[in-house]
Amino acid sequence: MPDVTKLPVIGAAPAGASDRTSAARAVREMFTSIAPRYDLLNHVLSLNVDRLWWRRTARSFRDILARPGTRVLDLCCGTGDMAFALRREAGKSRPQILGADFSHAMLQRASAKSASGAPNAVNPPAPSWIEADALNLPFPRDHFDLVTSAFGFRNLADYNAGLHEIVRVLRPGGECGILDFSEPGGAMGALYRVYFKQVLPRIGSAISGVRGPYAYLPASVERFPQPEELLARMKNAGFSEATWNPYTFGIAGLYRGKK
Ligand SMILES: C[S@@+](CC[C@H](N)C(=O)[O-])C[C@H]1O[C@@H](n2cnc3c(N)ncnc32)[C@H](O)[C@@H]1O
Repeated sequence: MPDVTKLPVIGAAPAGASDRTSAARAVREMFTSIAPRYDLLNHVLSLNVDRLWWRRTARSFRDILARPGTRVLDLCCGTGDMAFALRREAGKSRPQILGADFSHAMLQRASAKSASGAPNAVNPPAPSWIEADALNLPFPRDHFDLVTSAFGFRNLADYNAGLHEIVRVLRPGGECGILDFSEPGGAMGALYRVYFKQVLPRIGSAISGVRGPYAYLPASVERFPQPEELLARMKNAGFSEATWNPYTFGIAGLYRGKK
């Protein structure tokens, strides 16, 4: 494992951002600008594999979700699909699921999606949504049993600060699941890089009508630490256990941490 004390502070760095505040602002504006087309683009660009990844992540926390009174926070929830997958997996055990994001436009879409299907014996209650910054969460320490984040953590302006904040709000023994992209190796990786860097930005820009975000996406994945480094950062932030499990040839993967 790399020596984390010697690693620099790193986080998302959209073009033109010079510090943590301007990076966070640029990220928020970017997601707000694509919110109306975000779901469509996600499904088109991932050929619907995103749904499998959210489901697989939710399934891997089945035991926690089944416990009575479980409290779950889905960070950087966007339009809510990770939170919905957790709710579906939990089924009848009905944990409290809270989705948090700092883009109001993304949360509005999450809320509109959860409006259909009032809670009853068949429909578990919809997640609740809160506008909040993942680097400064409005929750007490030791509060949640599970914190997840799907494709959001990579966009934080300071990864170490994000990990410390997750550890702070998790109760001792609580778990965290960070689902995010990675860069697969080998021939598959070479093929995928052509798609991710050449094809995806063009389709994304054409459908969303906005150029920046889909050029930022491959750049942000390239900047994101390799699994070994992120695991070291997780341990340093206070997770007693940290593992990474690749999904779909390592295009994405799930980081799990236990406080
Ligand atoms: C790529 S989207 C992922 C959305 C959703 N989790 C999914 O799987 O589709 C990233 C989300 O992270 C949010 N985000 C980025 N930085 C954030 C921060 N510091 N605090 C809260 N939300 C943040 C963005 O607003 C955006 O909605």
